[in-house]
Amino acid sequence: MSMMAYEQKIKETDKSLAEAVKANPHLARYLTSLRSKGIAQPAYYVQLSRDMRYMNNINILYPVGDPIFIHVYERAKGERLYYQVVEPTVPKEFNELLREVDKALAALIGNEEVEDNESEKERILLSKLNSLVIIDQSLPTWNYRVLKKSGIPIKIRINEETFSALKYQLILHKVKLGLIEPFIRDPYIEDISCDGVGPIFIEHKVFGSCETSVVFESEDQLDEFVISLSERAMRPVTYRRPIVDGSLPDGSRINIVFGSDISMRGSNFTIRKFADIPISITQLIKWRTIDAIASAYLWLMLESGMSVWFCGETASGKTTLLRATCVFIRPEAKIISIEDTPEIIVPHDNWVREVTRQGEDAESSIELFDLLKASLRQRPNYIIVGEIRGKEAYVAFQAMQVGAPVITTFHAGSVQKLIQRLTGAPIDIPKSYIDILNCAVIQSAVRLPSTGTLERRVLSINEIVGYDSVEDRFDFIELFSWDPVSDTFIFRGEGSSHLLENKIAIMRGIPRRRVREIYKELENRAIFLEKLVEKGVLDYFDVWKAVKVAWKVGVEEALKMVLRGEEIWKY
Ligand SMILES: Nc1ncnc2c1ncn2[C@@H]1O[C@H](COP(=O)(O)OP(=O)(O)O)[C@@H](O)[C@H]1O
Ligand SMILES: [Mg+2]
Repeated sequence: MSMMAYEQKIKETDKSLAEAVKANPHLARYLTSLRSKGIAQPAYYVQLSRDMRYMNNINILYPVGDPIFIHVYERAKGERLYYQVVEPTVPKEFNELLREVDKALAALIGNEEVEDNESEKERILLSKLNSLVIIDQSLPTWNYRVLKKSGIPIKIRINEETFSALKYQLILHKVKLGLIEPFIRDPYIEDISCDGVGPIFIEHKVFGSCETSVVFESEDQLDEFVISLSERAMRPVTYRRPIVDGSLPDGSRINIVFGSDISMRGSNFTIRKFADIPISITQLIKWRTIDAIASAYLWLMLESGMSVWFCGETASGKTTLLRATCVFIRPEAKIISIEDTPEIIVPHDNWVREVTRQGEDAESSIELFDLLKASLRQRPNYIIVGEIRGKEAYVAFQAMQVGAPVITTFHAGSVQKLIQRLTGAPIDIPKSYIDILNCAVIQSAVRLPSTGTLERRVLSINEIVGYDSVEDRFDFIELFSWDPVSDTFIFRGEGSSHLLENKIAIMRGIPRRRVREIYKELENRAIFLEKLVEKGVLDYFDVWKAVKVAWKVGVEEALKMVLRGEEIWKY
């Protein structure tokens, strides 16, 4: 079938695909090539949904912004899914033209200061390119003519199609992130990992782990890419500093290991993508990561200045839940966030954001430890530490002791492990100080028995009561726990919370004999959050607005407003 006929055929069945094909000739070519390989035509979706993971025979095409498309399909039954990037490709001869253009651009741009801003870089590059290129439609695609002066190209003649391929390639590699740009654009990717020469693997939000068509052919190609990536993250790798952590321009976190001295398979990197706008607590309730009453409990804790630590394994969703719950901190609170790579976002006005600095040596570096110590003098109402791993835990305990509660994430799969790590070397918190930390949330990625899919769940929320030196044992209350069989959360119920009764109720002026009121407050908040979920209020900032109204007029009143049909999240 000719390209025209092919276009015609899909126009009848799917208009949006037809439009995409029209604007992207390489997509038409790709779809045609599938036939000769005996691969069925994929179904085109402009948006994916989480249920697609249950489809039989996954074969899906979706756009991630022109000219890039993603084709996800099963290459063989039972095998890992394949993630094919569909983008304009160029023939080998094109590289010669690229080299000429490079030379010309180097001469044109020279030592000019180039902004470290993507759109500015792109604008400059395109304007130089426009002054260099003369469009000549008489030339066949990929052919070119160069006019040189003292060996440097000053004019290049190419046709329209070659020019657009050239623009795409130059921007992709010089402004964007080259080979991995499609992954950065794809909103459905959670992380990207390259273990060395060979294909890159990704973790897809809908389809899970996939092998991709992006492949490093040689160690040299990989090393060169890794160096440029580290420069983009402003943390260049060198032989002296072969391991770096940083963040990419879009806020994704990156870890890079350079060279084969340390890692047998050569350079490698992993990228954890991060959404700019945090996932909301109502979204997490909807996904059943947590339920409304447990969220309401965290609301009361964070509103009352309790220290809550989010614990779990890597990628269990700690940072995501921490970010979602920050809306519960009192709107007028002064918050200081301290991190190695910026991930924390809070919607509060009075927010000081501090990020560590990795210098060449210890003297020029500023670590979490230093920032945390300095923050104690700034009288914050809350300190949020992105992740606590080592000796900074000790300073965090000092902060909590002097009345600056700390919210953070911590790598520990259970309360027992958390306490063990805190009270053991090298952190060495005295055992009797352990209840300075009020509350520990344990999270995990779990495989649901009912569907067999991997989901994130809060396994438990625990109140740290203290250390019993006579029995040499730590007391804590597992106030909420997740039941894997029913996939629901179990609340131990009224009368079982140490923090609500002995701290929060007292702060709120509730006398002992009316302590039940605190549980009523908890219930109201849970209903409030449930109503927001019901009404589809899933946007992070909408939730923030609704919580602020509740803070102003009281939860009971805010709940009445919502029940009356007022859209308080639009206030
Ligand atoms: N409840 C959730 N449901 C689905 N995906 C989630 C959930 N929580 C986190 N994620 C995704 O999982 C990845 C890891 O989450 P993150 O919060 O960074 O984990 P951690 O801080 O524990 O390492 C992110 O891509 C995030 O978007
Ligand atoms: Mg994290």
